Amino acid sequence: METKMGFYTVSNVENMRICVVMVGLPARGKSFISQKIVRYLSWLSIRAKCFNVGSYRRKAGAAHPSADFFDSSNKEALKVRQKAVTHAIEDMMKWYEEENGVVAILDATNSTRERREWVLRLCRENAIEPMFLESWCDDQDMILRNISDVKTSSPDYEGMDPEAATQDFLRRISNYEKVYEPLDRDNDKDLTFVKLINVAQEVIVNRIQSYLESRVVFYVMNLHIRPRCIWLSRHGESVYNVEKKIGGDSSLSARGFQYASKLPEIVRESAGDVNLTVWTSTLCRTQQTAESLPYKQLQWKALDELDAGVCDGMTYEEIEVKYPDDFKARDDDKYEYRYPGGESYRDVVIRLEPIIMELERQENILIVTHQAVLRCIYAYFMNVPQEESPWMSIPLHTLIKLEPRAYGTEVTRIKADIPAVSTYKEKGTSKLGESSAYATKYRNLLNEPSKSA
Ligand code: ATP
Ligand code: F6P
Repeated sequence: METKMGFYTVSNVENMRICVVMVGLPARGKSFISQKIVRYLSWLSIRAKCFNVGSYRRKAGAAHPSADFFDSSNKEALKVRQKAVTHAIEDMMKWYEEENGVVAILDATNSTRERREWVLRLCRENAIEPMFLESWCDDQDMILRNISDVKTSSPDYEGMDPEAATQDFLRRISNYEKVYEPLDRDNDKDLTFVKLINVAQEVIVNRIQSYLESRVVFYVMNLHIRPRCIWLSRHGESVYNVEKKIGGDSSLSARGFQYASKLPEIVRESAGDVNLTVWTSTLCRTQQTAESLPYKQLQWKALDELDAGVCDGMTYEEIEVKYPDDFKARDDDKYEYRYPGGESYRDVVIRLEPIIMELERQENILIVTHQAVLRCIYAYFMNVPQEESPWMSIPLHTLIKLEPRAYGTEVTRIKADIPAVSTYKEKGTSKLGESSAYATKYRNLLNEPSKSA
């Protein structure tokens, strides 16, 4: 394993540069998909960045364009559009060079073959592998929903009546439709591409060249946009928590069992009548916590707590005395540090990848797991940089509700009114508990409303 500027490089990523070129009419979810790919790859420590041509167009002087701006016979507008995409590609090339970029996403309609051939040529000249990703959709209800969910509130329509904005956006789409040339197997047979039809009802995959491209394809094939929620909870307070020990497979404490008894009520209050599935780890404390939940349950080995290796069963104070160098090394780089004979946070992220993939495919899920594992899962949904994620505060006896939205995830924390010890260890000490200054600094990462139950 080798770390470059804090980022992970694996043999199949090293020296590889991919440009995912989005293709599709407006309101087909291109930005949505782009942002998700960037979040997923960043979570896996693969350098990824999205270049949204719409933002460049706004900066190039067309901040509030009407539909006429997108008419291909509008010569003046074509110049502005060309300037915007050129600027986006220049920045993208700089990013590959100066920041060791691996996967860039060119988020534009790229709706004509002429445009795509131009992008293809630029990529080839710069030793970048282009992969076209088209979102094709003819579901009119979905398109109208997308317009009302995200387009009427776009900066393009700032201050405009939503109905007028919708009508203008539909005219914008018609202007694009006049010149749109979708990808197809005959004309584009030599290109690397994936085409999503009506989200992922049908998927066409052509000439995928590398492992990394195949990961992206597999990821986008698993995405869905049906509304759903994900709930996260640590297990109830355990005997080891009370004894300040890490790891192990201890049972819940008396207060932990109280949390387990109250959890069904808290979940029901938050979820209502929806049907959900509970995922636990294979360890006794998560199963005891989930015991009274009246839903289907599944155990995942991948949800087991970070393995502390030779330190399993010790307190932080004991570790500081017995393994002082390790104690310091972990504080210095908590994400990368691997316990002797155990795991690092990075190791946990890698074993959680199938969980994330499955979570993308699923509907309502409640995950009952452990502090380190929850930090990693939370970091994926909330786009928390990996070097910060191991320091997030995720207290015991708190249910976290995540509601994925078009461009982000809404979070609600529901605290059960059952006391529990703090298992949080600040940097530079072996004592447990959070000082208020520290809590303020790291709680910023969890900047969400919190309720009591
Ligand atoms: P524009 O070209 O105007 O920038 P866009 O194609 O980038 O539009 P988005 O802004 O990403 O469209 O639209 C977001 C909406 O698209 C969200 O409401 C999301 O639920 C929906 N969406 C996500 N994926 C898809 C898909 N594959 N097909 C259709 N709609 C989708
Ligand atoms: O709504 C379409 C849009 O996202 C615009 O905001 C943006 O200017 C354009 O697509 C970018 O794509 P293209 O350069 O292909 O027109």
